Amino acid sequence: MRILVVGSGGREHALCWAIAASPLCGTLYCAPGNAGIAQEAECVAIGAEDVEGLVGFAREQAIDYVVVGPEAPLVAGLVDRLNAAGIKAFGPSAAAAVLEGSKGFVKDLCAAHGIPTAAYGRFTDPEEAKAFVRARAAPIVVKADGLAAGKGVVVAETLEAAEAAVDAALTEGAFGAAGAEVVVEEFLEGEEASFFALVDGETALPLASAQDHKRAFDGDTGPNTGGMGAYSPAPVMTPELEARVMAEIVAPTVAAMTAAGRPYKGVLYAGLMITAEGPKLIEYNARFGDPECQVLVMRLMSDLLPALIATSDGVLKSFDLRWYPEPAVTVVLAAEGYPGPYEKGSEIKGLEGLDEEDLVVFHAGTKRAADGRLLAAGGRVLNVTALGTTVAEAQARAYAAIERIDWPEGFCRRDIAWRAVARDGEAMRDTALPRPLRRGPERP
Ligand code: AMP
Ligand code: GLY
Repeated sequence: MRILVVGSGGREHALCWAIAASPLCGTLYCAPGNAGIAQEAECVAIGAEDVEGLVGFAREQAIDYVVVGPEAPLVAGLVDRLNAAGIKAFGPSAAAAVLEGSKGFVKDLCAAHGIPTAAYGRFTDPEEAKAFVRARAAPIVVKADGLAAGKGVVVAETLEAAEAAVDAALTEGAFGAAGAEVVVEEFLEGEEASFFALVDGETALPLASAQDHKRAFDGDTGPNTGGMGAYSPAPVMTPELEARVMAEIVAPTVAAMTAAGRPYKGVLYAGLMITAEGPKLIEYNARFGDPECQVLVMRLMSDLLPALIATSDGVLKSFDLRWYPEPAVTVVLAAEGYPGPYEKGSEIKGLEGLDEEDLVVFHAGTKRAADGRLLAAGGRVLNVTALGTTVAEAQARAYAAIERIDWPEGFCRRDIAWRAVARDGEAMRDTALPRPLRRGPERP
């Protein structure tokens, strides 16, 4: 098959890495890709949001299957456009990507179908939103309705801060059209976890759980980022909880979307709060998490590509996936200054010989200079990803590799997976299988 992956981050490197290992994959392209992806795929200089350019390329190159990584082209209708051109693609239609594109839509869907989530109100009028805030207690959460590049959520510690967040979105237009409506919702207490499932419009096939670290600095402090690291599985997600998430949250969502004439096909990423009353939905994403995808592909034993195709073809019912039980950890190396302003163009050395059976360095913001040097080209730059018989071992393996990377302009958190290591290290050691580790799908 001739495959095109859309995107340029660590998530797309992980997808390319897994897809390139599939016996079904003949030629692999990535648009626009990065320096690491170039080891797996032929990179083409078309932006991930250039819908016309991507459809044109897929047509000209007789692409058989397109895998869309990020949310923006999904919400913009890339999959609809490809399908209309007779090209199969992985990812939801624009109508179904509304699960990520509109927080208000999701809240109404939850309310209509009894899906557990935080109590809420939807507002376009700032005075009404502020009156709703004042009638409640802090902390309280204010969210821009639309896509705001991860910046649209304010967890307000005081009612004044919540009112300011309402004004920022509705009065000052801080998020443009994405913030023309806000959701104000109850603050949920508990531990967060992410859960991923493939959904083919009818059937949901659970993938695995993960936890990420959104704050920039150790101890989960500092500004919010796209994610400074992740690990899978999330110890908090017991098999019983996973079953509840599937039955109480994922399955009713899939049924409701189909009933609404918006059948969801793709990966459904449920951001959850595990509260004292059970799992509650914080939000949906219509794509794999980044960097959660990197740990998922490391743990997947089965070939990913046929699973993606079965999702688009609507035949997940008869599908099954096998996983390595070992945990995986990924640590993000970011440019000094991220998520604020940072420099581009510094040289990264020391990656040669780092990839091993149980360790892969996925690239995010990297590019290759004309003279062959590897340069930083973004905020999040590398994702050092390792498997271990325990989460502590995976963590140690990732940090040992980081010691060998020579990039003075970069930084990383030193405590990725701390929660799992503290709580779950012993339990995992007891269940680890006495056999050699393998990474990712078995290669032909
Ligand atoms: P998002 O940008 O939608 O991923 O949300 C960012 C973060 O805000 C989430 O990962 C949670 O930590 C937090 N958050 C969002 N909604 C709530 C809520 N209702 N209660 C508590 N925390 C929340
Ligand atoms: N790591 C969080 C996300 O992909 O949204």
